[in-house]
Amino acid sequence: MTAIQSVLRIPFMWLEGWFDWAFGPRWNPMYYLGGLGFFYFWIVAVSGLYVYAFFDTGLTEAYDSVESLTHGQWYLGGVMRSLHRYASDALVVMMVLHMVREFAFDHYRGARFFSWITGVPMLWLVIAAGITGYWLVWDELAQYVAIVSSEWLDWLPIFGEPIARNFMHQGSLDDRFFTLLIFLHIAVPLILLLVMWIHLQRISYAKWKPARGLSIGTMLMMLALSFAYPAVSHGPANLDRVPQQLDLDWYYLFAYPLVDNWGAGTVWALVFAGTLALMLVPWLPPRKARPVAVVDLDNCNGCGRCASDCPFGAITMVPRTDGQPFEGQAKVDPDVCVSCGICVGACPTAMPFRLFSDLVPGIDLPELTALQLRDRIHDVTKNLEGNARILIVGCKHGIQSGKLTGSGRAAVDLPCAGMLPPPYIDYVLSKGLADGVAVVGCRAGECQYRLGQEWSEDRFERRRDPHLRNRVPRERLLRVWRAPVEWRRALADIEAFQANLKTLDAPRTSAPPKRRKERQS
Ligand code: HEM
Ligand code: SF4
Ligand code: SF4
Repeated sequence: MTAIQSVLRIPFMWLEGWFDWAFGPRWNPMYYLGGLGFFYFWIVAVSGLYVYAFFDTGLTEAYDSVESLTHGQWYLGGVMRSLHRYASDALVVMMVLHMVREFAFDHYRGARFFSWITGVPMLWLVIAAGITGYWLVWDELAQYVAIVSSEWLDWLPIFGEPIARNFMHQGSLDDRFFTLLIFLHIAVPLILLLVMWIHLQRISYAKWKPARGLSIGTMLMMLALSFAYPAVSHGPANLDRVPQQLDLDWYYLFAYPLVDNWGAGTVWALVFAGTLALMLVPWLPPRKARPVAVVDLDNCNGCGRCASDCPFGAITMVPRTDGQPFEGQAKVDPDVCVSCGICVGACPTAMPFRLFSDLVPGIDLPELTALQLRDRIHDVTKNLEGNARILIVGCKHGIQSGKLTGSGRAAVDLPCAGMLPPPYIDYVLSKGLADGVAVVGCRAGECQYRLGQEWSEDRFERRRDPHLRNRVPRERLLRVWRAPVEWRRALADIEAFQANLKTLDAPRTSAPPKRRKERQS
C-alpha cells in the first residue's frame, strides 16, 4: 500500500507545485478539492431549484418543459440547466481526485478512518442523484437510462413487481413515475448534504469553502462553458422505438454499457465488492497505533490553546477536576488524536528555558516529549562548528532531513513542524546552540496534519499564540515549506541562508543562566 501511495503522491506534488506557482497556495484548486465539492454542490442546488420551477412532471410535458427552458430561455434557463449539468460533472471529478489524493497522502487511516468511510456512501449518493437527473429529462438518453436501470435494479429481489414493466411500451408508463423520480432526485441530494456534514465532524476548521478568488474563477469558467456548449437533450423518448445514437455522460453513466455487456449480476457484484474494498481500505493494513497526547494537570492552566489548535477536534476543555484555581482543563479523546503534536506547539507551558521545574508541559507527546526534544537539540548541535551553524527542525512526513544536513548543519525531526513551540527557537539562538534555525515542513496545502504549516506561520508572525518573541532575530530564522520532491530547492534555500548567516554579526547569546524562571513575552 505504501508503495502505491508513494507513486501516486508524486504527480500530485508536481501538479500542486505548478498550481502554487500559477495561482499561489490560496487559489490552488488541489488544496481545496473538498471545498470545491461543496461549492459545486451549491451550484447544482441553486440551478436545480431554478430548473425545477419550470419543470413539468407530466409524461410528455417533462420533455417539452425542459426543451422550452433550454431554447426559449437560453440566456437564463438554458444557462441554469447547463450549470446544473457541468457542476454535477465537476462534482464527480472533484470527488474522485479528492479520494485519490487523501489516499495518496495517507490521510485516511488510524483515527482518520472516519472521514474516509463516511466519504464512500457519498460516491454512490452523487451517482444516484445524477442518474435520476438524466432520467427526468425523458429524452432518448433517459429512455436508455430507464431501461438499463430497471434491468439492473430488477436483478435485486427487492421489488414486488419488476420495474421494467413500466418501460415495455409507450402506454405502460404514467405520470406518477415522474413524481416518484423527482422526489428521489431531491431526496438523494438532501441525504448527501447530511452525509457531507457528518463527513466533516472529526475535522476542525474544515476547508469547506474555497477561497473567494477560486470560487469566482471556477464559476466564470462554468458560465463560459455553459454559453459556449449549452447542455441539450436528445430527441424525445419513445418506448416503441430503440434509440440509435446516444451521447453518454461518462461521469455518471459509466456503468451502463457494462450492464449491457456483462449483465446486471456482474455489475452488482463489482459494485458491492468495490464498496466493501473501499470501506476496508483504512485497515489494509491498519496504521500502527502511536501513543496519543497526554495532559499533565499540574502544568495545565486551562488556557484552551491546545483545544483551539488541534486540527482534529481531539481536545475538549472540561471543568477542572484537581481543585486548581483555573476554569478548565484539557482532555484528549484518544480515539480521535492522531499524535501530531500540534497541541504541544500551542501550549504556553512547553517552555525549554525552565530551570527549577522539570520540562513537563501541560500537554505532551509520549513519542517525543518536550524534554526529549530539548535534549535532542543539545545533542545534535553540540558538535556543530563555524559561525553559520544551523539547526534544521524537520517534519517526518516532509523532506528527509538527511538530504539537508551537511557541514555546519544538524537536524531534529518532529511528527509535524507545527509541534515546535516557538520558545524553542528563542532557546536555541539565545543559548548559542546554533547561529540559525531552519524550520522545514510541508507546503501550505500539503501538511500531513492539515494545519501544522499554517499555525507555525501564524505563531512566527505573531498572529497566533504562542508568539515568537520579538527579541528573536528574524534574519536567523528560515522557514522552508516545500514538498519532498523539491528537496534540492530546499537545500539551496538553506545553503543561501547559511551563506547569509556568515555575513551577520555574532548573535547575542544569553548570559549564564540566572536562577530564576524566565517568562515568555
Ligand atoms: C461530495 C463529495 C465530498 C466532499 C464535498 C468532501 C469534502 C471534504 C472536505 C471539505 C474535507 C476537509 C478538507 C480539509 O479541510 O482538510 C474532506 C476531507 C476528507 N475527505 Fe472528503 N469529501 C467528499 C468525498 C469524499 C470521498 C468520496 C472520500 C473517500 C472515500 C473522502 C475522504 C476524505 C478524507 C479521508 C478526508 C481527510 C480527513 C483528514 O484529513 O483527516 N471524501 N472532505
Ligand atoms: S495549551 Fe497547555 S496549558 Fe493550555 S489548556 Fe492546553 S494543555 Fe493546558
Ligand atoms: S497530538 Fe494532534 S491530534 Fe492529538 S490532541 Fe494534539 S493536536 Fe490533537
